[in-house]
Amino acid sequence: FLANTFRDCMATTFASDEPIETILLTSFSSKYPKALQSFQQNPRWLNSSSSTKPLAIVTPLHESHIQAAILCTNKHGMHLRVRSGGHDYEGLSYLSTYTPPSAFVMIDLNQLRSIHVNLPHETAWVQAGATLGELYYMISKASGVHGYPAGICPSVGVGGHISGGGFGTMLRKFGTAADHVVDAYLIDVNGNILDRKSMGEDLFWAIRGGTATSFGIILAWKIKLVRVPPVVTGFNIRRTLEEGATMLINKWQHVADKLHQDLFIRVVAQNHGGGGELGLEAKDCIEMSWIQSTLYFAGYNKWDPTEVLLNRITTYKSSFKAKSDFVMDPIPEIGLQGIWKMLLREDALAMVIMDPYGGRMNEISEYEIPFPHRKGNLYNIQYLVKWDDNSIEASNRHVNWMRMLYSYMTPYVSTSPRAAYANYRDLDLGRNQKHHIPYSEASAWGFKYFKENFKRLAQIKTRVDPNNFFRNEQSIPTLN
Ligand code: FDA
Repeated sequence: FLANTFRDCMATTFASDEPIETILLTSFSSKYPKALQSFQQNPRWLNSSSSTKPLAIVTPLHESHIQAAILCTNKHGMHLRVRSGGHDYEGLSYLSTYTPPSAFVMIDLNQLRSIHVNLPHETAWVQAGATLGELYYMISKASGVHGYPAGICPSVGVGGHISGGGFGTMLRKFGTAADHVVDAYLIDVNGNILDRKSMGEDLFWAIRGGTATSFGIILAWKIKLVRVPPVVTGFNIRRTLEEGATMLINKWQHVADKLHQDLFIRVVAQNHGGGGELGLEAKDCIEMSWIQSTLYFAGYNKWDPTEVLLNRITTYKSSFKAKSDFVMDPIPEIGLQGIWKMLLREDALAMVIMDPYGGRMNEISEYEIPFPHRKGNLYNIQYLVKWDDNSIEASNRHVNWMRMLYSYMTPYVSTSPRAAYANYRDLDLGRNQKHHIPYSEASAWGFKYFKENFKRLAQIKTRVDPNNFFRNEQSIPTLN
């Protein structure tokens, strides 16, 4: 019933000769399952009985379609979810786990993804539905010496990624993706389209790393490009435990954040694969352009056509559970050995990904934008386990293993708060179960993601969306 009411409301608001089905599918449509599943990255959620699917999917071709969807959902007591690239770790852009279930509509921005690079100004306007791969590709078409410091996986959407921070191989040199946003278009709860000037500096601060989805819908970001050399160098060295991997990681922990900021050395400890070369030699170093390095670090070959970056479907798609931590003091060798033991206990592909901080990250204040993880962090850890058997039993088993690993890590990582990265969303940290959740309850996870910035985020939320229309299980709460 509600789906049809929403459809009728959209049909009267939608000013076009085209049928409403051009942009709207209700859950009764035969095309709906494909549209729901097409860009989601974690199939774990689609089988889950504890999540609710959207009553309708709107794929706007124009910003007025989003304004109509805000108006119609608001009018009929529903809420919205927004999907750009569909990489949300807990599926919050297309599913809801509220109990009791709360009717919602999903806006899928995959048709709003134009990119305009302005080379003389070294900026670009990027619509929210574009992926990082599309952005990198368009920058490389305009210039061989410009880039953008964002994530490694090309199919990640800029809509979600930048609104949670966003980092990759240029983190130590330039900081996060959100640090390089200079303007944005956002649709607010009243359907107004705001830019930096009209939204004001407080709201503009909040959407750069403080989960924009709590404040409105990002239409586009204006980003500042960074200068990259015509040639960069990449290398990939594998070592097994027998070849001294633990000692190597131990050494890495003491130097990785202090090396020259042009150098970014990521460590991936994993239970499957590995073994091979010993020591870094000249032959391991591969010279390439920056755009080739985005291919190389995404798992392609540097000579693959750059058009593969335009593929919106990730090559990594499988069920997964992830968590994150920040390390402020080197983990003793015995602690590292314990990580290996835990990894070897898991039969599915499991990894501990360590990204060094330091460099530019030490120079940016933790209050500059809501992303607070700056000076004092040696490195970030992402724990990841991936599996193909999509049964509930398998899912529970792997998730339990992940929780054990997280518990094992407690003495070795940041405390008060035990910090976490908002883009590696983890509902184990806590969730809003109801329309209105007290700020004090939400603080359980809010301070982990945003530290002291959480309070300012809640103040801004209270001002711009007092009725909490833009909400999900980990959206910023109001202070009421
Ligand atoms: P999705 O569309 O699922 O959105 C994520 C969240 O943002 C949801 O809450 C959604 O509602 C909201 N949102 C989306 N579009 C919005 C809009 N236009 N306006 C307001 N809110 C919006 N991170 C990183 O920093 N570095 C990395 O290298 C990687 N690599 C990586 C690889 C893979 C395979 C995955 C699955 C994820 C990553 N990530 C990452 C994490 C990634 O940055 C994070 O999941 C982003 O939120 C994904 O943004 P999407 O737009 O793709 O997701």
